[in-house]
Amino acid sequence: MTSPKSEWRVGVAGLGTVGAGLLNFLSERPGFAPAGGSARVSGVSARSRSRPRPFDISSLPWFDDPVALAASDETDIFVELIGGSDGPAKAAVETALKAGKPVVTANKALIAEHGAELAALAESKGVPLLFEAAVMGGTPAVKMLREAMVGDEVVAVAGILNGTCNYILTEMEAGGRSFADVLAEAQRLGYAEADPTMDVGGFDAAHKITILAALAFGCAPTFGAAEIEGVDKIELLDIRLAKDLGYRIKLVASTARSDDGGVSVRVHPALAPLDHPLARAGGALNALFIEGRRIGRIFIQGPGAGAGPTAAAVAADIADVMTGAQRPVFQKPAGALKPFTPVDAAHTLGRAYLRLLVQDVPGVIASVSETLAEAGVSIDSFLQKPVEGEAGVPIVLTTHAVAESVMAEAVRRIAALPTLLQPPRLIRIARI
Ligand code: HSE
Repeated sequence: MTSPKSEWRVGVAGLGTVGAGLLNFLSERPGFAPAGGSARVSGVSARSRSRPRPFDISSLPWFDDPVALAASDETDIFVELIGGSDGPAKAAVETALKAGKPVVTANKALIAEHGAELAALAESKGVPLLFEAAVMGGTPAVKMLREAMVGDEVVAVAGILNGTCNYILTEMEAGGRSFADVLAEAQRLGYAEADPTMDVGGFDAAHKITILAALAFGCAPTFGAAEIEGVDKIELLDIRLAKDLGYRIKLVASTARSDDGGVSVRVHPALAPLDHPLARAGGALNALFIEGRRIGRIFIQGPGAGAGPTAAAVAADIADVMTGAQRPVFQKPAGALKPFTPVDAAHTLGRAYLRLLVQDVPGVIASVSETLAEAGVSIDSFLQKPVEGEAGVPIVLTTHAVAESVMAEAVRRIAALPTLLQPPRLIRIARI
């Protein structure tokens, strides 16, 4: 247990957008914590000391090596804002925990990939390891699952966890713009990760939903088990056709528990009905549904990135450390976390949107519907929409709920039809 102190010396490693936001906040409001006492930055570390920053760091003790900052006698709380699942971030966090120091981090990759071992280390030393800022930035999803939902059993969690992808999809639809054009703008606005593949490939959202799955279901965070598909193959044509059918395409991250104790963790583009709250969460917003057996559905929405919001989440964790609040890092003590058991695709039911580009010849529609029927897929709606400039005719259909393994086989058979001009495009319809 940490004991009450009048002053907490905070070592901050990583001075990007969030780090600068935190330094600014702590200089303005050092006595912000409800338990009293103050938080003072006692040392900083980053890759470059001289890089221009919105906050003057010249008066703060500088550490070239974040591990040295974590180990310093002047550091009571170590804040890790470096990023990356391994390397200096992991080394510094381990150093702080081994020395019995509380750690606050915004590093989703670190927690999603090494959360179980770090939780075991933190708990063996009796110190908190907190990561509210790792998921949904300033919108409190972690505390919601770790603390507020413990009186219930979570059944499912689903939402929009990547602001960059949400911004890209929103702007593609609103302005009829290309994916590449809008991505460049998102990078200029500072939403995107240093490597935008992390965002558009779905990996950033997968890190976040892996963490939420561990909190919701008491399983060890297992990033390798996440099924991941990004937005990089979404075309404007699909955005438009989906809208004609009454849907909007979103990158949905979800986790759910099956009746036999399996847990699904997935990120993929999905069609949400236009009037659904997830479809209405536009721009860089994040949004999340949590479904509890007794509470029912909770919906939260807010900023998932940015200096002010994300630093506020880091500060809330620092306040928890100052208060002496302590609970297991995930939903259960590290030693009691269940191994992750994936859900079998044969048992995962869902509806789908399927877009085909076919030759405009007699019998082509009959061959598509016969192939689907033979594979066991039932069509819900069907739209044939000539598009100017296209070589063939786009056919769009939605299906009734079917096992994903059955759908995959149907798509394989459709892809083999001689009238197909390009591979079928399948997008799931969100189960929300
Ligand atoms: N690149 C992330 C996003 C930022 O776009 O949501 C916060 O994790």
